Amino acid sequence: MVDLVIRGGKVVLPSGVFEVSVGIEGDKIVAIGKENSIRDADKSIDASGKIVFPGAIDPHIHIQMPFMGAVSKDNFFDATKAASWGGTTSLITFATPQKGDTTLETVKKRRGQADGNVVVDYSLHPTITKITPDTEGQVKQFIDMGLPSFKLFMVYRSEGIMADDGMLMRVFQESAKHGGLVGCHAENVFMIEYLRDKALKAGQKAAINHALTRPPFTEAETVNRTLYMADMFKAPYYNFHLSIKEGVSMFRKARQQGLPVYAETCTHYLVNSVDDLKREDGINFICTPPLRDGEHQQALWNGLFDGSLSLVSSDHCAFTEDMKKKGGESFDQVPNGMPGHEFRVPIMFSEAVHKRDMSLNRFTEIVSSNAAKIFGLYPKKGVIQVGSDADILIIDPRVERTISVEDSLYGMDWYPCEGMKVKGWPSVTVSKGKILWEDGEFFGKAGDGVFLKRHLSKDLRNYPIA
Ligand code: URP
Ligand code: ZN
Repeated sequence: MVDLVIRGGKVVLPSGVFEVSVGIEGDKIVAIGKENSIRDADKSIDASGKIVFPGAIDPHIHIQMPFMGAVSKDNFFDATKAASWGGTTSLITFATPQKGDTTLETVKKRRGQADGNVVVDYSLHPTITKITPDTEGQVKQFIDMGLPSFKLFMVYRSEGIMADDGMLMRVFQESAKHGGLVGCHAENVFMIEYLRDKALKAGQKAAINHALTRPPFTEAETVNRTLYMADMFKAPYYNFHLSIKEGVSMFRKARQQGLPVYAETCTHYLVNSVDDLKREDGINFICTPPLRDGEHQQALWNGLFDGSLSLVSSDHCAFTEDMKKKGGESFDQVPNGMPGHEFRVPIMFSEAVHKRDMSLNRFTEIVSSNAAKIFGLYPKKGVIQVGSDADILIIDPRVERTISVEDSLYGMDWYPCEGMKVKGWPSVTVSKGKILWEDGEFFGKAGDGVFLKRHLSKDLRNYPIA
C-alpha cells in the first residue's frame, strides 16, 4: 500500500522513457514498476496519454528584487505558487546585498522573507559584491551553510553590486579551495558604459539602444575572461544567462577539453529577439544581456542540442510595465529584467520537443536534472528514482494554450511571451508527495516548501557532469 500512485503515463527515467507506474509514500518515491505492479494506493493519478517527468528546477530566478529604483512584483509565496503551476518544484533565487549590507546579512534577510512562505523548495545563490578578509572567509562559511554557488555581477557598477576582476580572482581562488561554484553575469561594464554614454550624448534614448550599446563582443570578451580564470584556478564555473553564439562556441571548446564549465541560456533568448526592443512597448523587453538576433538564437538551440549548454533557466525578474515606465524615457533608466518563470517549462516543451524534436530525456536534462547535478541537489531532486523526493510533473502533450497575462497569478500587466501559442501543458504538479496542482486547481499552501541545503558533487570540479 502506498500513498499515491501515478499510472498509465510515459515516465521519463534516466535510462529512457517507459510505461511504468510510480509509487509514492510520504515525500519519497518508493516504487517504480510495471503497470499494475503497484496495486494498492490511497490515491491514484491516471496519466494515460501524458508524460511523467521529474519536477522542473529553475536555478536562476529573481524574487522580490530591489533593483534600479523598483522592487520586482512577486513575493516568495506568489513566485513559488506560480512556479509550481508551471511545473517547477525547486528553484534557486539570489541573496544580493543592497548598498551597505553584507552578503551574510542578506542571506538571513532572504530566509526571513522566504521561510514559511514558499510553496516549493528553494535555495539561494549568495551574491558577492565586496571583498574584505572577512568576505573571503565567508565563501567557506556559505559553502558550509549549504549555499555553495555564488553570483558575481561583472556589470551594474552604478547599482553598487559590480565585482571587479580582482574580486573575481579572489572568489575563484577561495571557491576552488573549498569546493564551491562561481557563477558570473558576464558583460564588459567599461565598454558598455562608454557606448551608453556616447548614445545618450547623441540623444539616442530609445529601447533599441539597450542592445546597440551592449553588442555581442561586450559579452564574448567577458565570457572568455571568466573561462581563463576558471582554468587558471581549476575551478568549476557557471555562466548565467548566456545569449551569444560566440559564447556557445567557447563553452563547446572548453567542455571538449574537459573543463568543468557550465552555461545556461534563458527562455527569452530562444523565443524573443532584438526586434522586440523596437516595438512600441520595447522598454518592457530591456533585460541583460540584451535580446539578440536569429543567428544567436540558432546557435543557442544548437548548443542545447549538442550539450555545449547545460540548461535553460528563466532569469525571471517581474518588473511590471508601470515599473518599467517609471524609469523614464531613456533606455539606461529602465529596470532590467522580464517576468515569466511559470512558462519556462511549457514553452520549452512546445518549442524544443514538439517543434524541434528534442528527446524527452534531453528535455528533462535542460529543465530539471542538469540543474540538480550542477547545483548539488542530485539525486534528491531532478530524477524519478526510488529514494528521490517525490517531485513530479505530468505534462499533457496534447493541450494547446495561448499564453496570456490574464492568467497571471501575481498581478503582472505584461508578458514577453504574450499571445504565444504552446502545445503541451502541465496538468499535475507534485512536490514531495503532495499534489500542488491538478487540472488547474491549487492544493498547496505557504510553508509546503522548505529551504534546501545544497552540497556540490565531488565530481563537479573534475570534468563536465551536466
Ligand atoms: O535583466 C536581468 N537579467 N535582470 C535581472 C538581474 C540579472 O542580471 O540577472
Ligand atoms: Zn544577471
